Amino acid sequence: MTTHAEELARYRARTRKSFALFERAQEVLPLGVSSNFRSFKPYPFFIERAEGSRMWDRDGHEYVDFSMCFGALMVGHAHPVLVKAIAGAAGRGTLYGMSHEPEVHAAELLCERFGLEQVRFTSSGSESTMHALRLARTFTGRDKVLKFEGAYHGGHDTVLASVKPAASKVGDARRPQVVPQSEGIPALTLENTLVATWNDPKGVREILEAHRDEVAAVIVEPVMMNIGVVPPRDGFLQELRSLCDESGALLVFDEVKTGAKLAWGGAQPYFGVKADIVCLAKAIGGGLPLGAFGGRRELMDEIAASRSFHAGTYASNPLGIAACTAALEQVLVPAVYEKATALGDALAAGHNEILRKHGLDACAVNVGVNGTVFWRKTPPTNYREWLEQDVEAFWRYWHMCLNRDVIPQAQSYDEQWTVSVAHTQQDVERMLEVFDEIAREMA
Ligand SMILES: Cc1ncc(COP(=O)(O)O)c(C=O)c1O
Repeated sequence: MTTHAEELARYRARTRKSFALFERAQEVLPLGVSSNFRSFKPYPFFIERAEGSRMWDRDGHEYVDFSMCFGALMVGHAHPVLVKAIAGAAGRGTLYGMSHEPEVHAAELLCERFGLEQVRFTSSGSESTMHALRLARTFTGRDKVLKFEGAYHGGHDTVLASVKPAASKVGDARRPQVVPQSEGIPALTLENTLVATWNDPKGVREILEAHRDEVAAVIVEPVMMNIGVVPPRDGFLQELRSLCDESGALLVFDEVKTGAKLAWGGAQPYFGVKADIVCLAKAIGGGLPLGAFGGRRELMDEIAASRSFHAGTYASNPLGIAACTAALEQVLVPAVYEKATALGDALAAGHNEILRKHGLDACAVNVGVNGTVFWRKTPPTNYREWLEQDVEAFWRYWHMCLNRDVIPQAQSYDEQWTVSVAHTQQDVERMLEVFDEIAREMA
């Protein structure tokens, strides 16, 4: 049996070149990374290249990658169709700052696929949710936004509250405290953010009633995917739809993680619930930084009338549009979802069987192409339950996986695996083989 300390020593021994780079990086990049979510202990390894379902690190190890850049790469790494489309577009100029036909075509594709009348392009998920919420505030003439405890909607002030609040600060589950996720967010801004508990329709109702005629939008990740994978209880999204209709708030689906992954058309057809505004990014960009938000014309008219501001130098940039179009038309076609979902379900079933065999208090959940192992006996149904797990066990499992050349999911226990179009049955078998060995050691 190897202890966690021994696994860490093994990690250090096999990633010496990464460590040298990490030391250099720390001089010029806070934490040595370009996004805090990429940091993990003892230090992150550095990537040299990626292709299909594989990534190679600086020290020459080949990993089966189930992170897929936090789920952004439903198309897999360096898909030949995407490489060709991006290279072709690059030769025609990378930025125009003017209109071009391909952006119209890509907008048509998004509208058709996600049941929207109009969209505007952005360059990231954060921008998509930021503009969506401004649009909701403009349309309703209200200031407050209701989000769920544990949900992440990007890095802007309104939604950077109660993302990962400490257990000591969360307050009453029915009326959770609004806990800033960062210093530097004006208290006045957070007066307009309300927080509810996921899967608690009574709590949502109470909050909306306490703030009658004040709430512009209820923003949700239709499947919470910043606390592993926590789906809505049967009927919860439908209840949110009704509560929004009663209160006059708009229902905003943050589909940055679910869009073009959960199903061909995302969460709306999957759950049979219509949102007022849909926010997109990650998978729709085919690996390039591209996002969008959209809804019915009546809402988007606020932008046309210049009442709700939206602009962006890189919005609908030709490279992103070429990647988006190729991904949607040629790669993320309806047929791929059945296969990838079956592999995701097989991963969860395989993990659960192994956990049972070795008698470990953990469980695996998969929804669509995304799943995770929760280091607790039963799947959590909200943030507070998710908090109650064996975090040490996660990190031991994480380092053990890396030492055995698999990246089981995106870094940290709030993330999940993504089965992309590039993954095969062999990749799933390899993951399960490694997990069997790890679970045996951990039992
Ligand atoms: C649900 C959700 N919304 C928004 C964002 C922000 O997207 P981006 O990192 O592209 O700004 C993320 C990022 O992970 C996300 O998971």
